[in-house]
Amino acid sequence: MQRVLSGVRPTGGIHLGNYLGAIRNWVAMQHQAQESLFCIVDMHALTTLEGTDDLAENTYTIAAAYLAAGIDPAKASIFAQSHVPAHTELAWLFSCLTPLGWLNRMTQFKEKAGKHKEMACLGLYAYPVLMAADILLYKATHVPVGEDQKQHLELARDIAGAFNRRFGEGLLPIPEPMILGAATRVMSLRDGSSKMSKSDISEYSRIELMDSADTIALKIRKAKTDMEPLPEKFSDLEGRPEAQNLVNIFATLAEITPDAVCQQFVGSNFAPFKQQLADLMVATIVPIGEQMRQYLADKATLHATLQAGARRANELAHLHMNDIRRAIGMIQ
Ligand code: ADP
Ligand code: TRP
Repeated sequence: MQRVLSGVRPTGGIHLGNYLGAIRNWVAMQHQAQESLFCIVDMHALTTLEGTDDLAENTYTIAAAYLAAGIDPAKASIFAQSHVPAHTELAWLFSCLTPLGWLNRMTQFKEKAGKHKEMACLGLYAYPVLMAADILLYKATHVPVGEDQKQHLELARDIAGAFNRRFGEGLLPIPEPMILGAATRVMSLRDGSSKMSKSDISEYSRIELMDSADTIALKIRKAKTDMEPLPEKFSDLEGRPEAQNLVNIFATLAEITPDAVCQQFVGSNFAPFKQQLADLMVATIVPIGEQMRQYLADKATLHATLQAGARRANELAHLHMNDIRRAIGMIQ
């Protein structure tokens, strides 16, 4: 039985990294899995200040992106995390068996808390425990995410293991991270050493799914590169992170290997490569952005989709929470 679950935080726009690293892979998986759940993790969005002014609008935007990217609500449940209260209940139960030592290793906490660790909120620290609850509440077996979530997935596996050892082997499946394709870590267009992210202050660092064709072309033209020509093999791009990033994006959009991209442009400078990359990107992203606008123009339908998704998610959550409470020994 394959049960797929994943999520995106509604913290503002949604970008190419979210699409290529995560959502695009969900679309194929929804057809193979027996059950798929795609969550908009609004409670996770509260752990940082960015984007929380417009939580409802941001949540609708992510829902629209899921639909526009090809998630079919007849096959997969699309819902807001806060519409299923059992996420936080299970997170509490897990927090009682997660050693602090495990949380202290989390690099995302260190990055997000920055220099002022003492000022960071408890929610940011407990973030990966809530994420484990998101996954294990549905007994999800497969979790398609970008590379940056690997450590959080390992923690979810450790928590499932700890729970099973304490309350009964086999109660929770150990979830498999699915980190797929050549664009599992899309980097900033301005700096090949940092991840493309919603929180980067420079808009030129990322392609947003609702960007116009002109904006996409401009951002690609301005993307940082170097003076060297493109080599014959991808492995020869060692030490050229911006070029590596653009070649990986090209390969994923064109559905060919990074080596095949290099062969196509070997010896050339970046101008013709960027032109074709922009064309490919416009052809993929602009129709998604247009569809997102259409979905966003009809909030009542979007809302109904979220409600239907939450109904199904609550059904499963109710069933599994009963098993979990029973295993722990709580009065039923
Ligand atoms: P962000 O990091 O932009 O705030 P989220 O944390 O909500 O976005 O991430 C949602 C999904 O998108 C996760 O599966 C994450 O791994 C993936 N993701 C985010 N940024 C990137 C990126 N730059 N490259 C590849 N995948 C990414
Ligand atoms: N932590 C993920 C991110 O920042 C978002 C997330 C929350 C998630 N809960 C999840 C992803 C459960 C997969 C499964 O990208």
